[in-house]
Amino acid sequence: MLKQRENWASKLGFILAAAGSAVGLGNIWRFPYVVGTNGGAVFVLIYLVVVFLIGYPMMVTESAIGKHTRSNPVGAFRALAPNSPWWLAGALGVFTGFVILSYYSVVAGWSLSYIFKTLFGTVGPGVDTADAFVGHITSVWPPIIWHAVFMLLTVGIIAAGIVKGIQRWVQILWPVMAVLIVLLIIRAVTLPGAGAGIAFFLAPDFSQVTGVTFLNAVSQAFFTLSLGMGVFITYGSYLKEDDNISGSAGSVVGMDTLIALLAGFVVFPAVFAMGLDPSAGAGLTFITLPAVFAEMPAGVLFGTLFFILLAVAALTSAISLLEVVAAWLIDEKGWTRGKAAAVLGVVIFVVGIPSSLGFSVWSGFSMPGVGTDLLDTYDWFANSIFLPLGGLLTAVFAGYVWGAKKVQDEANFGSGNLKVGNWLAVMIRIVIPVAILVVMIWGIVETFAG
Ligand code: TRP
Repeated sequence: MLKQRENWASKLGFILAAAGSAVGLGNIWRFPYVVGTNGGAVFVLIYLVVVFLIGYPMMVTESAIGKHTRSNPVGAFRALAPNSPWWLAGALGVFTGFVILSYYSVVAGWSLSYIFKTLFGTVGPGVDTADAFVGHITSVWPPIIWHAVFMLLTVGIIAAGIVKGIQRWVQILWPVMAVLIVLLIIRAVTLPGAGAGIAFFLAPDFSQVTGVTFLNAVSQAFFTLSLGMGVFITYGSYLKEDDNISGSAGSVVGMDTLIALLAGFVVFPAVFAMGLDPSAGAGLTFITLPAVFAEMPAGVLFGTLFFILLAVAALTSAISLLEVVAAWLIDEKGWTRGKAAAVLGVVIFVVGIPSSLGFSVWSGFSMPGVGTDLLDTYDWFANSIFLPLGGLLTAVFAGYVWGAKKVQDEANFGSGNLKVGNWLAVMIRIVIPVAILVVMIWGIVETFAG
């Protein structure tokens, strides 16, 4: 029996939901701090190359698999290669989504709490924002409670299936976000001493490059574009017959890259103007942005609005992570949507708790090269191992087992002004697998040797 599968209401529906998944903490929180810890502009350059050479073709490939099979990741691999172990590639994706969401929700919780800290002046003029941030994450209960609140919001949306509601919201909030970022850029670049930050972000210093730089660029590209774990297989499965993939994926990659670069133009001028260290790590954005708000007129208003938007951006990403795992339980195990969302919410919340406690009661934890705290460590395994591995398997599968020509035809179907050429086959059969393999081996060896 063929089940009737829900479709996006319009072509824009897919683009908005996909861009909602892509644009999130990865752009505004993770991108600046990873740039900061990897030598600045030279990392940005490598990252951009990876986004276009690996990111775009991977997004096209995952979406084509989803659209063709109209299935969750596990079902999709099984449908295209029945009676083979390839379904494990889909299962790896489901597992990865689970791990990422567990700590993603902790960071999203920080954003939620910063809405109120900014509004009530706990973080603002006259406050040392670095002390305030450390104070927040090293406390035991508040970050866990905000983690719970964020997870509850995510579960609520997936359970209700109100993708429409959130979609409409996102559509309104996108332009607000854009205006706000532009205002912040104007404030940041006009701070005295901002020039050094712009140079750090734009003028590459090639002596900073190591194997780890490349691994981190690949990790960041997969993370920010939501690739390597089946989000685009799942979201692609809701596409209509005549929807075009090649063009839509281009729009999503373009929007995501633009937002990340704009975030860099806010954070780095501010970091240097305020004499902060760009390689400060995971706290960078939460320390610099409140300091910028404190220095601008109506800073409380802009700051509060900004953290609301950041939380919403995180929410539209988190629902895509939960949707993949839930879709698998719904399609493959016959669970109801409500049960899948609720049970997963509780389990993922619990799995995420250590990544929060790693800043307080378990602050003794560190894994040399991998992470100085538990959140870093979760992040390293998810993004430096599981996502690239998922991407590698998907590319090899699509290129050799399903067939590169089929990917290309599926991607170019329908009307769009951007078409993928025969180069796609070369990319997914050779360039992407070899590049990921080399970068993973090189980066991992250096991580543990260093
Ligand atoms: N891309 C999102 C961000 O930048 C995070 C995210 C959502 C994600 N879904 C994903 C990352 C799937 C990896 C895989 O914040």
